[in-house]
Amino acid sequence: SSNISSSNNDDPTTMMKKKPMTVRDWWPDSLDLRILHQDPLDARPSHVPHPSSATVAAAASAATTSFSSSTASYTSYATKFAKLDLHALRNDIYKSLTTTSHPAWPADYGHYGPLMIRLAWHSAGTYRVFDGRGGGGSANIRLPPLNSWPDNGNLDKACRYILWPIKRKYGQSISWADLIILAGNVAIESMMGESWGSVQPLWFGGGRMDAFAPEEDVNWGHEPEWLKDDRHHQQQCSSNGESSTGLEEPLGAVQMGLIYVNPEGPGGNPDILASAKDIRETFSRMGMNDMETVALIAGGHTFGKAHGAANPSKYVGREPEGASIDQMGLGWKNSFQTGRGADAITSGLEGAWTANPTKWDNGYFDLLYKYDWTQSKSPGGATQWVPNADSINANGGLDAVATVPDAHHGDVKHLPIMFTTDLALRYDPIYGPISKQFHLNPDLFTVEFKKAWYKLCHRDMGPISRHLGPYLPDETLIWQDPIPLAHYGTINANDIRNLKASIMDVIYSSKISISDLVKAAWASASTYRCTDHRGGANGGRIRLLPQKNWEVNDTTSLDRVIAVLEDIQACFNDHHKQSNSNTQVSFADLVILAGNVAIEEAARRAGHSNVRVPFVAGRTDALQSETDINSFQVLQPVTDGFRNYDGKDARPEVMLVDRAHLLSLKTPEMVVLLGGLRVLNANADASSLVGVLTDRPEALTNDFFTNLLDEYTTWSPVGDDGKVFCGVRPTGKPWKASRVDLVMGSNAQLRAISEAYASVDSSNHFVNDFVRAWTKVMMLDRFDLLRIPNDD
Ligand code: HEM
Repeated sequence: SSNISSSNNDDPTTMMKKKPMTVRDWWPDSLDLRILHQDPLDARPSHVPHPSSATVAAAASAATTSFSSSTASYTSYATKFAKLDLHALRNDIYKSLTTTSHPAWPADYGHYGPLMIRLAWHSAGTYRVFDGRGGGGSANIRLPPLNSWPDNGNLDKACRYILWPIKRKYGQSISWADLIILAGNVAIESMMGESWGSVQPLWFGGGRMDAFAPEEDVNWGHEPEWLKDDRHHQQQCSSNGESSTGLEEPLGAVQMGLIYVNPEGPGGNPDILASAKDIRETFSRMGMNDMETVALIAGGHTFGKAHGAANPSKYVGREPEGASIDQMGLGWKNSFQTGRGADAITSGLEGAWTANPTKWDNGYFDLLYKYDWTQSKSPGGATQWVPNADSINANGGLDAVATVPDAHHGDVKHLPIMFTTDLALRYDPIYGPISKQFHLNPDLFTVEFKKAWYKLCHRDMGPISRHLGPYLPDETLIWQDPIPLAHYGTINANDIRNLKASIMDVIYSSKISISDLVKAAWASASTYRCTDHRGGANGGRIRLLPQKNWEVNDTTSLDRVIAVLEDIQACFNDHHKQSNSNTQVSFADLVILAGNVAIEEAARRAGHSNVRVPFVAGRTDALQSETDINSFQVLQPVTDGFRNYDGKDARPEVMLVDRAHLLSLKTPEMVVLLGGLRVLNANADASSLVGVLTDRPEALTNDFFTNLLDEYTTWSPVGDDGKVFCGVRPTGKPWKASRVDLVMGSNAQLRAISEAYASVDSSNHFVNDFVRAWTKVMMLDRFDLLRIPNDD
């Protein structure tokens, strides 16, 4: 293991240069806004489509011409992908896995399939449910820190030696991220059927777009040393409030630099049952249940081998990011004998699990159950397990039990091995019966492995409407948060006018307030996260469990809105049915339309009478039965600065920036939305008036900014928790504000933006920018509007 902070310290030229102090070095605690501006568009060649905001921008540009400058990159990738000869590409991958052997990294058993499966699994396996970050969606495994994680040892070879020639040939028609997952699929297919030609392709959806800069937004843990664990604490679970000694949220791995768990057992301790607990905790953070977990681990280790010909700490050099420049971005140079093939060192564990490591069969479970296992050491010194003496004797002696072929010397045979984590699948009281079931029913194992593999590799890709290509699943999968297709006519401009009039009526009759409607629309759309494309307004799930009961959604206000809008919806739909029209309005559309009407009215009250908030109909309503309540629970905001809902966070402003990132917002968009939502009184607790720095709530003024930056107001904390502040001013009642409000004036970068909105010349800009940012959020999940060339 190596110390990150010492990276490049051995390079004399670096040592001679003294690193200048940066603002961040001086004030490490000041609010970091960089996550809102990472991987900029101009950091890549112009012909390489940009991932994040791309889908959003495309959808938004369909919504309104004011977004016409957007790049629509997703569509541009989709167009290239549609022209790609996937059949030829799959054949090329197959050929390179089975018929080539690069001299610098010779293939084990003459087949790169297992290595490629490990590459795809480690790409996808970083996904975690809490914030949707990680996963194989951006090929971040090419970039630091993941390209240099100890657990990703020698995966650089898989990319550079085996996949690069294919990527070079196909260029921008296939992203690295899609290629890595597709190669994992081809690897599995190539070892599953009798012959390549007879294999049914596994489910695969394309559409991943590559990152060109390391991600700044992902918290991979705070330990400054590889493989350290300072992340298990007494904590309260965010979903049920229960206390447990668990893994810090949102982390998905038990030690720094691992994808999930330590193969030798927790912290290297070969405790099988404790290891099962670690597996359950980390795999459930990837959204996997017990059955999927067993299928994946057993299925994965049906293939390939571990590499530990000698002690890694003695022979293996620096990881790619810390290696010397002449290694050209490769790392882990191995000085043990030839350093490759039979002498390879990756994890330091050594051996294979089955007698046919390049074939899909039931060998893993056969051997897991056939023998009793005893601890042993790999040549590299790591703890692993081999059949014990009694098992060897009872099964015909060493020669009969040593059925595992050597990866490079055909005539040599070895004992099979298991890791502590593999034995967990047999001995854990929950995993055990599942493993037994798979052992007795290999077909079930195959089906469950294929499904879990698809989920593993596609969990971060969002709704099926974002998936490209001909190999999509032929069934609806609940974890993809299905959104039904409309079996009715969508509302037209005239219908929209009528519906807006009905909404205005309920505002005028005071049945509902502007603030209620703005809050409901925001609650509905702002669950979206660009990290895994879950959440958002489409599906109308705001009226379903669990969302409708979330405290942050102010349930009293939301219930009121749902009742009023359901009335309008029923009235509209009944009327159309009676007049033999098949047009209907969805609740999902109506709640956004109502939010828009409220904003137009609020703008009018502030003297902007011609403001039109763009609206594009077409959202549909999902059913409760199409909604996995548990899986949606992770979308519940623990803190939401936009609604001054600060939960238990000591620094809610950090979480505000985090949410802004999930909403793909840039800093000015975050600021203008916050200022606008305050004057509209969209607080989760509307009665608190915290941050509502206006004498005219529900008018879309820039009052928040002018009052916040008033030079005669003095702010001081109220109470001990430092959460609410009182702003005393020369005239008028004192204001109340939160940390999130004050940071808009105290942080120099945010203040610069607030000043631009507080100036006398800014009121039109404020309203326009607010409407644009609002529309962006309302449109974030409109993948249905993307013009994907091959789905007509
Ligand atoms: C190899 C650990 C789950 C697929 C390995 C190796 C380790 C390991 C230490 C040896 C690496 C080397 O030295 O070359 C684990 C642990 C898991 C886990 C601790 C979870 C408890 C999975 C899953 C899959 C998978 C879910 C795929 C579905 C593979 C494959 C190899 C491998 C194919 C062989 C690679 C090769 O032959 O080069 N695993 N793994 N593993 N793993 Fe896993």
